[in-house]
Amino acid sequence: MNQQIPRRTLRVGVVGCGMISRNHLEAFAALDAVQVVGVCDVDPGRARATAAAWGVGNAVGSVSALLDLELDIISVCTPHPTHEAVVLEAAGAGVHVLCEKPIAIDLASAERMVAACDAAGVKLGVLFQRRFWPAAQRVRATIDDGTLGTPVIGHASVLLHRDPDYYAKDAWRGTWDTDGGGVLMTQAIHYIDLLQWYMGDIAEVYGTINTFKHGGHIEVEDSASAVLKFASGGIATLSASTAATPSLGVQIRITGTTGATAELSEFPEGTDGRVTIMATGETVRATPAHPEDTEANVDLSSINARLIPHHTSQIRDFVQALARGTDPAVTGRDANNALRILLAVYESARTGVPVRFAPFPPGVPEAPGNVVARAAAPAANHPRS
Ligand SMILES: NC(=O)c1ccc[n+]([C@@H]2O[C@H](COP(=O)([O-])OP(=O)(O)OC[C@H]3O[C@@H](n4cnc5c(N)ncnc54)[C@H](O)[C@@H]3O)[C@@H](O)[C@H]2O)c1
Repeated sequence: MNQQIPRRTLRVGVVGCGMISRNHLEAFAALDAVQVVGVCDVDPGRARATAAAWGVGNAVGSVSALLDLELDIISVCTPHPTHEAVVLEAAGAGVHVLCEKPIAIDLASAERMVAACDAAGVKLGVLFQRRFWPAAQRVRATIDDGTLGTPVIGHASVLLHRDPDYYAKDAWRGTWDTDGGGVLMTQAIHYIDLLQWYMGDIAEVYGTINTFKHGGHIEVEDSASAVLKFASGGIATLSASTAATPSLGVQIRITGTTGATAELSEFPEGTDGRVTIMATGETVRATPAHPEDTEANVDLSSINARLIPHHTSQIRDFVQALARGTDPAVTGRDANNALRILLAVYESARTGVPVRFAPFPPGVPEAPGNVVARAAAPAANHPRS
């Protein structure tokens, strides 16, 4: 153990020194009582450059070498299909885990990760930092304080712009095996998580996918639409695409049994959400419209840079949860539930019928032709399998 580090300082290792690792390194640098003591990447040059840029003492090439640094927390910032191996190794070493989204690209893998952390008695937090936006929390408050009543109608419009370069720059992007999916797996999962945070447990999913703009260079979907039914009886629609030019950003609307609606708008992508809460017949709170000259098609590094405050809030929550001995605000199980929903869209797209997870809500009649695809989670992501 490094003698210069005070006893109560938590020792952190970061695995994967690519784009999103900056958000984790910035977040840990902003927090008290944590210190990044090592970074790891299979590309030794990236590990060394990151360690040098952030003044981190150790740059290593394997997770086992990172774990040798007697970590308390590991941040997993590698491509999604590699998360499981890192998390299982860290849990086996008794190290708490902060994992980037999506937790995994298949549910069996995600469940093994949760089980391994439970068995080891370590905390597993998964990054859905958009839950920490003040605007997203304001929407949640309108549910908690009764303004909306029970949320019954949800809508998420995720119409984003990605250049072909986005998919070309990293070999793992855009294939079923290495990326696990397209706009649903990588972008829309944040907003699927917000919908489930606002509307509760999922009951049934019907959806379809297509590739309209990026078909020449990716095999996964660039566009998807879905209807989500929740165990509460609430229903929501989701439209998501990376084929929009200009980007329209993200709008989420939640209407409750009181008739009130809370609307969250993220434009340009990555900026703090703006929230409007419309009580029945009147606007009770509104924020200014987006400026007309706003640049819509924001580059990825700018989007990620704008997310740093929210990564910092979630990572602070995780560190505080360790101190309190409580679960973090976003657990591995939350992440599995979001994954379950988007995998069901793929399954429904493949079979052409809804995927059902739970008994139909009481009092809601079974519609004619409402065929049940399967009760369990989808086995494979690949809609053509
Ligand atoms: N929360 C968010 O808003 C957000 C935003 C962007 C990315 N992400 C997630 O973060 C993860 C990484 O994305 P990225 O854009 O930083 O990718 P990236 O390709 O820029 O970086 C990944 C890094 O991991 C390294 N790596 C790969 N396998 C490894 C292994 N087994 N051990 C150690 N290093 C390994 C690569 O060499 C690379 O440097 C993805 O799961 C992505 O979905 C989340």
